[in-house]
Amino acid sequence: MKGLNLMNIPWAKPCFWGDEEKFVANAVRSTWISGGPYVEKLEKDLARYHGVRFCITTSNGTSALQLAMLAIGVGPGDEVIVPGFAFMASANMVIGTGAKPVYADIDPDTWCMDPACVERKITARTRAIVAVHNYGNVCDMGALRRLADRRKLFLIEDTAEALFSKYRGRFSGTFGDISCFSFQATKTLTTGEGGCVLTSDRKLFARMQLIRNHGLSQRGRYWHDVLGYNFRLTNIQAALGCAQFKHRAKIISSRHKVHALYRRYLKGEDGIRFQCFKPDVRPVVWCVAVEVDPKVFGANRDQIMKRLGAFGIETRPGFFPPSAMPLYGAPALPAADHISARIISLPSFPSLTERQIRYVCGQLKKLRKKRA
Ligand SMILES: Cc1ncc(COP(=O)(O)O)c(C=O)c1O
Repeated sequence: MKGLNLMNIPWAKPCFWGDEEKFVANAVRSTWISGGPYVEKLEKDLARYHGVRFCITTSNGTSALQLAMLAIGVGPGDEVIVPGFAFMASANMVIGTGAKPVYADIDPDTWCMDPACVERKITARTRAIVAVHNYGNVCDMGALRRLADRRKLFLIEDTAEALFSKYRGRFSGTFGDISCFSFQATKTLTTGEGGCVLTSDRKLFARMQLIRNHGLSQRGRYWHDVLGYNFRLTNIQAALGCAQFKHRAKIISSRHKVHALYRRYLKGEDGIRFQCFKPDVRPVVWCVAVEVDPKVFGANRDQIMKRLGAFGIETRPGFFPPSAMPLYGAPALPAADHISARIISLPSFPSLTERQIRYVCGQLKKLRKKRA
């Protein structure tokens, strides 16, 4: 590779915006290292910002989903509809309750669950729909909310990848009965590991508060009302979250810039297709992902990723569809199976420079087959 100016670009990198060290040091000095004022502040800030009544922070996005499943009371004999293309945490948490995940196909353009496919999967056993907002896009929440209301189902949002994205002018995470967020290291707002649930339903809120904290009631010390867990976020983690939340404008504008630069440098390029955002959606893109056409590249997705890796560019594949993993015993779904084999998610962290993005795009474009 002599003469080649190789860059090393990781797929993800957490970014800090100004007050993280100060707030974390404050938490440590205060000796409030488990619960504490930063936890309460982060919960208040997130609820108010989203215009919902309640927020409960959690140890991660997966425990937020588990909390939601336990709160709505799904269990053996029930079915919950989840997308056939997504990070599998929502399906896993359904299985964890003893219920059965039923997979609905996605829209091949938006890569989010298709409400018409969801409707076809509803049976007398269906209790809930989990809408997963892939890569920062937002599912068709108008259609899903109407469907859930008409069929008397719970609607849960998995907003782990879509914090601050909007649908019809409203934040994602404000359409479901409960919505679940992740603050893991690569996410739009990070606390290292962490998450939260939002809801405006007082009963669900009270139930989730109990379950998050061992099922302990106010009745007296060590009195357990319900079966509970420990899904708490620490004050140290919440301090990081409060600092990130304070600087959300910078986070959002940096992510918009990264997304716009990728669109500029890959616009109209043969064999490279972006995720489609409908006019209803104003995304804050967590991860810029493209669908590659193996015919145009003369190589499959995994070979393309390997070649990018040789140029120092770390990428990730699309999520495997449940039909490909024996664990799930799921039927094939045309769009989900097609898309998941062709997606490459590109480095998308907010401090990426224009030079780095140009390099990634240039190397990707060069990998296409030369025309005769
Ligand atoms: C859509 C989605 N749901 C849930 C999770 C799980 O969140 P966590 O890693 O915080 O448990 C993730 C990823 O991390 C995710 O991308």
